Amino acid sequence: MIVEQDVSLKAYNTFGIDATAKKLYRVQTIEDVQEILPVLQNGALVLGGGSNVLLSSDVDVVVINEITGKHIIAQDERNITIEFGAGEVWHNCVEWAVLHNYGGIENMALIPGTIGAAPIQNIGAYGVEVESCVVSVLYIDITSGEVKELDAASCKFGYRDSIFKHELKHRVFITSVKLKLSKQPIVSTTYKDVEQELLKSGIIHPTIHDVFTAVVQIRSRKLPNPKQLGNAGSFFKNPVISIEHFEELVGKYPAIPSYNAGDGFKKVPAAWLIEQAGFKGKQVGNTGTHVTQPLVLVNYGNANGREILALASEIQSVVYRTFAIQLEMEVNIIQ
Ligand code: FAD
Ligand code: EPU
Repeated sequence: MIVEQDVSLKAYNTFGIDATAKKLYRVQTIEDVQEILPVLQNGALVLGGGSNVLLSSDVDVVVINEITGKHIIAQDERNITIEFGAGEVWHNCVEWAVLHNYGGIENMALIPGTIGAAPIQNIGAYGVEVESCVVSVLYIDITSGEVKELDAASCKFGYRDSIFKHELKHRVFITSVKLKLSKQPIVSTTYKDVEQELLKSGIIHPTIHDVFTAVVQIRSRKLPNPKQLGNAGSFFKNPVISIEHFEELVGKYPAIPSYNAGDGFKKVPAAWLIEQAGFKGKQVGNTGTHVTQPLVLVNYGNANGREILALASEIQSVVYRTFAIQLEMEVNIIQ
């Protein structure tokens, strides 16, 4: 375990916010976590890659999860179950899986952050969510110090949602995640962008490697690289509204895009709402929305968390006034 005092958190969050931690622990084993249990019980902030947080002020104590490792738990001719240390970098695990022709997570290539955070918001991209592969999540119960294992059904996964954002919020330190991958992968190319990218490359029968490459190409074009421009991916969730509300909006805005979201509901792209509200590419001081993807709020260099939060609130107000839709933040705001 590594312990440091008065540390800038700029390198520990992809927004690049220069907040400070009075104390920072970097834990590499389950024993390290057990050792600092009182620190966690006192409300320390747990971070993986810091790619889904907005630090709105300085923080007392931060614990960075650096528990690595990869173990095969079970396999047969069809599937393989692997336990990944929660501090493993998500994209590296995707790359490793694709290299071994283990399918299931290739559509989620290039999502920043760690394996351990993936189940928290049930990460997803290009038609696939991590819940489709999760067998279980192993964690230390911060209250009791016990090691526990939660199966996928008990994780209550939803769109960018799970039990870890509700009943278990601030109560767990995730140490590893078991994923079941397929040795006979069936590719998922239903997302329009992926389909078009493959067609553009003349690929008719794509492998998981082709899908991986297509997703990397699309994302590199559309999303800002946090190393060059601070951001935390989509700042808001795509809102789900009732059919009645949607039909009312279609009357006023015939071009409004939508996806089915179960009986009686429609999902509307937040990026479209934000663009219509006049915020696409808008810069306000040190912050703004990205020029090609307004759902991504960016830090042009020296923004602090409060400035980004102020822009987010302004976007929420204008979108609400225009469409009567309340945008919900996807990024975790650290007060
Ligand atoms: P962090 O930001 O470090 O933490 C996120 C939350 O989880 C915090 O509340 C933290 O306290 C908690 N936490 C982290 N680790 C643990 C642990 N071990 N135990 C308990 N609690 C923990 N997300 C998507 O779903 N799809 C995308 O396509 C996508 N694209 C993105 C693109 C960019 C450019 C960026 C910057 C972000 C994107 N994201 C996307 C968001 C982000 O990458 C994911 O949410 C990712 O899973 C966060 O991982 P992390 O390790 O960085 O988590
Ligand atoms: N759009 C606009 N203007 C724009 C950009 C997009 O109107 O400038 C509209 C278009 O109608 C477009 C639609 O928004 O078809 C969807 O855009 P995109 O395919 O870029 O996806 P998204 O809905 O904005 C979601 C996820 C991303 C994920 C992608 C791909 C959420 C909140 N975001 O974005 O996840 O990578 O789909 O699956 O669900 C994240 O969670 O951080 C994230 C980046």
